[in-house]
Amino acid sequence: MPLLISCTDLWKVYRVGDVEVQALRDIHLTIDQGEFVAVRGTSGSGKSTLMNILGCLDQPTRGRYQLDGMDVGTAKPDVLAEIRNRQIGFVFQSFNLIPRISALENVQLPLVYRGVSLKEQRKQAAAALLRVGLAGREQHYPFQLSGGQQQRVAIARALVGGPSILFADEPTGNLDTASSREIMDILTQLNRDDGITIILVTHESDIATSASRELIMKDGQVVQDVRRVSHLSVVP
Ligand SMILES: Nc1ncnc2c1ncn2[C@@H]1O[C@H](COP(=O)(O)OP(=O)(O)OP(=O)(O)O)[C@@H](O)[C@H]1O
Ligand SMILES: [Mg+2]
Repeated sequence: MPLLISCTDLWKVYRVGDVEVQALRDIHLTIDQGEFVAVRGTSGSGKSTLMNILGCLDQPTRGRYQLDGMDVGTAKPDVLAEIRNRQIGFVFQSFNLIPRISALENVQLPLVYRGVSLKEQRKQAAAALLRVGLAGREQHYPFQLSGGQQQRVAIARALVGGPSILFADEPTGNLDTASSREIMDILTQLNRDDGITIILVTHESDIATSASRELIMKDGQVVQDVRRVSHLSVVP
């Protein structure tokens, strides 16, 4: 598969007062299109920092980050925003839905920024909700949905713009086992059926087994990079 992500000598250093934190240290990493990568590691090992840089929410202090052949590590903020809107979807542990608007309206949001007509926004948002098994819940407000359902709305919102990469930072961190399983099944389907590249941060090793590759982080470095052979052919 073609190369999607390439990091060379990537560093992220935060300075808070007199203290310098090396959140990422000399990361060298490539990820191909269509991979399903789980990122694991102890708290503070740099997982979210790496995700935020790969997802163009933040930029490295030093080093090179190329996404789809483009140097995004040094791109201007408006260029980054455009890449995020066109190519990238995000899902977070805390769902981040807007409370006072319906599920459908939450999913419409990325399309509003693209200037898509209202009719087309509704059509595409409804299709995305259908894709995550939430047909019939379009008019529900977030507080009228379970945690697992709210996370599925967040996935629909991440999907609606047709991203090629989905970043998920602890997407099952607030969910019970059954809901976690549902979310992982949806992510697996999106990877397998739609070819969406998935990069997922998790603390749980059984969640990570859904992925075809596992990166283990420690103290700002990737210390293990394990590929699972043909996880899709495993019959449950
Ligand atoms: N905005 C920031 N300013 C200063 N230091 C930061 C900032 N963000 C993260 N850090 C530091 O960088 C290191 C890596 O943080 P990061 O959030 O990437 O860890 P993590 O692996 O995602 O942890 P967790 O599992 O707890 O979410 C930590 O030591 C943290 O204190
Ligand atoms: Mg984190």
